[in-house]
Amino acid sequence: MSETPDQAAEALRRGELILLPTETVYGLGADAGNPEAVAKIFEAKGRPRFNPLISHVADAVAAESIGAFDDKARALAEAFWPGPMTLVTPVKDVRRVCDLARAGLDSVAIRVPGHAGARSVLAAFDGPVVAPSANRSGRPSPTTFADAVEETGFAVAAAVDGGDCPVGLESTVISVLGGAVSLLRPGAVTRAEIEAVVGPLADGGEGHRSPGRLTLHYAPDAPVRIEAVEARDGELLLGFGPGVGDPRWSLSPSGDLREAAANLFRLLREADRTRPVGIAVSPLPTEGLGEAINDRLRRAAGHIG
Ligand code: TXA
Ligand code: MG
Repeated sequence: MSETPDQAAEALRRGELILLPTETVYGLGADAGNPEAVAKIFEAKGRPRFNPLISHVADAVAAESIGAFDDKARALAEAFWPGPMTLVTPVKDVRRVCDLARAGLDSVAIRVPGHAGARSVLAAFDGPVVAPSANRSGRPSPTTFADAVEETGFAVAAAVDGGDCPVGLESTVISVLGGAVSLLRPGAVTRAEIEAVVGPLADGGEGHRSPGRLTLHYAPDAPVRIEAVEARDGELLLGFGPGVGDPRWSLSPSGDLREAAANLFRLLREADRTRPVGIAVSPLPTEGLGEAINDRLRRAAGHIG
């Protein structure tokens, strides 16, 4: 089963859910202005209603019609959109991004995706589309069409097959509220890339976390053990770098962080299907894209913070 972007836009207009391919992960999409449709997302994912959603729009002009941008927000938008970055700004249009989509906050998270499939759906729909990752709450995000269908395909009226997600990790979420820029969720756009545009980031601290980031997350069924030197009895080892573990189960045999990000969630899911006693993961560098990969792994392992 796979529908066209036009059919997906039709489903959004009818208040139904869709599977939306993006460059980061597959999203579970709904019309951001339709509270009944948005409620179906929380229901399908089993997501707590205090966790707000990202509104996806076609371009920066559409973004500025729903959020209030200052100079720093504009500079970031210019540098990284379309692409794997989400900006949290004061909300401007509470009709097209309903209260439930924002979990009642006076801010809104906005992203202009770069994936051709997402862009076609957004162009055909012509309005903001909320789309959390298409996994059921707490589980690894789907990065292939088959995984997205398996997670929440039951809840959608249209599923757009956009192939494998090339980035494989969710977008970087950046708050640009009150003149300060802070990192709420590390992602494909790195800290260094952001600081090259807006200077040093504010230290967000506990109060500045995304509301959705406080619980065990991205977790397969098998327990995950990180920074593992080797597999223990019955564990499956996901290696990284030359000569570490079985190459078939390596995040990147050559030690490339982009490749590791693209493989991470898919391999966690595939490892889970072999029903191991546990999934052990080799240490990965913490710089650059490694910050986001290590963040997801810590949460998958239940090491929060
Ligand atoms: O790459 C992505 O961002 C994917 C694709 C589908 O676009 N979407 C995604 O959505 O990862 P989700 O719902 O899984 O993660 C959204 C994150 C959550 O941590 C949420 O708490 C945060 O963004 N967020 C949304 N609105 C916010 C707001 N107004 N203030 C602070 N954090 C917000
Ligand atoms: Mg998610």
